Amino acid sequence: DAEKSHYISKIKQLLKQQDAVLVAHYYTDEIIQALAEETGGCVADSLEMARFGNQHSASTLVVAGVRFMGETAKILTPEKRVIMPTLEATCSLDIGCPIDEFSAFCDQYPDRKVVVYANTSAAVKARADWVVTSSIALEIVEHLIDEGEELIWAPDKHLGSYIQKQTGADMLMWDSACIVHEEFKAKGILDLKQLYPDAAVLVHPESPASVVDMADVVGSTSQLIKASQTLSNPAFIVATDRGIFYKMRQLTPHKEFIEAPTAGSGATCRSCAHCPWMAMNQLENLATALEQGTNTIDVDSALAEKAMIPLRRMLGFAA
Ligand code: 13P
Ligand code: SF4
Repeated sequence: DAEKSHYISKIKQLLKQQDAVLVAHYYTDEIIQALAEETGGCVADSLEMARFGNQHSASTLVVAGVRFMGETAKILTPEKRVIMPTLEATCSLDIGCPIDEFSAFCDQYPDRKVVVYANTSAAVKARADWVVTSSIALEIVEHLIDEGEELIWAPDKHLGSYIQKQTGADMLMWDSACIVHEEFKAKGILDLKQLYPDAAVLVHPESPASVVDMADVVGSTSQLIKASQTLSNPAFIVATDRGIFYKMRQLTPHKEFIEAPTAGSGATCRSCAHCPWMAMNQLENLATALEQGTNTIDVDSALAEKAMIPLRRMLGFAA
């Protein structure tokens, strides 16, 4: 509609004027993802977002996602200005891993390598030896096992259990979860499979073990999108945030994509397969942040210097 078009053209103009590029996650609204694509930015998983921001020549990165993604961009490229549509977009995993408690926990096991998920604060990253995302966690943990390491893992217990099961790693696990993925139910998927016997089940590893066990493919958002392109199944049951359907449908419009059922519906489910924090990224607040120069991400420089080490280690490993 007219209001949307107004914001879209305003944002396009401001991006150009300010030498800025838009980097969006697959869970943001379609309109934000489309705008990132149209303006030469990127739509990506969390590892690719970090890589894109790190390599792009723009002097301003506009990060549409959740807070840790903006912080990661700032830590990796402190010379750039990083802004976000909102600074309120947190993540239940970040909330579930406060630095004081986490640091005290790590202090009890000084011989263990500390591996943290990217969905954490800068302070938690600064306390870690390694940062991982879901697309590269398995490989990094396998590498650490080869080196004979025992691990502390935080904060996502479901991703952690999946990695532990796959690799046999000795991991002490933090107890936190993603409120979106935690709601997917194995029973609901089983029922759907009766209706769609040819469908493949695609699952993000932040989901509970009973759901992961039903998957044909487990992986990061990018890996699930790739699977939807390469597998020959005519339909897919997808257990992750429904924002991902935009890209899946764009790439293979002739296939059918079905939401995996959550614990409830309407008022009875907490997130209904859509992250409430990702949903805070809108055209209006994006335009305002660019226009007024607000919502700048700043990370304490001493913390950022420390957090940069495990983040660079991850990018180096992934290269
Ligand atoms: P990906 O790394 O698979 O994009 O998932 C991270 C995530 O949960 C973003 O909220
Ligand atoms: Fe965090 Fe889950 Fe939202 Fe991703 S989907 S930002 S893990 S709460």
